[in-house]
Amino acid sequence: MPLIRFGVSIEKDLLLKFDCFIKGKKYTNRSEAFRDLIRQELVQEQWQGKEEVVGAITLIYNHHKRELVNKLMDIQHDFGGVIISSQHIHLDHNNCLEIIAVKGSPKEAQKLADTLKSVKGVKHGTLSMSTTGKEIE
Ligand code: NI
Repeated sequence: MPLIRFGVSIEKDLLLKFDCFIKGKKYTNRSEAFRDLIRQELVQEQWQGKEEVVGAITLIYNHHKRELVNKLMDIQHDFGGVIISSQHIHLDHNNCLEIIAVKGSPKEAQKLADTLKSVKGVKHGTLSMSTTGKEIE
C-alpha cells in the first residue's frame, strides 16, 4: 500500500502528551505510533463484529486441583471449533500456565475466555484480542 501524508491539527498540550506517551512506549516517530493507535481501534472494532478474529487466552492455575483440570479440559473440548492450538507449561511444583490460541467468531472466543476464567481455582486469566491481519495493513 502506498503511504499517504496528511496534516493533522492538534492542540499543543495534547501533542506534548502524545509525544511523552509514545516516547514511553519506545516509538521512534509519531507516524508509527499513530498507525498503531488506529490499528488498535480497528482490531477492537473487529472484536465487536462477526468477522473472524485471532487471539490468545492465558490461564494460571494450580494443577493439584484435579477437578479444576478436568473442568478446563471439558470446556476446551466444547469449544474445539474456535481453538487452533494450546500449550501447557509447568511453571513450578504447583502452578501451570496454559496458552490457548483461538481463531474464529469473536463471540465464541470471548465466551470461551469468560467461561475458562470464571472456573473456580483459576488464579488469573486474560484474553489478548488480536487479528487475522487480513483486513489491516
Ligand atoms: Ni502443569
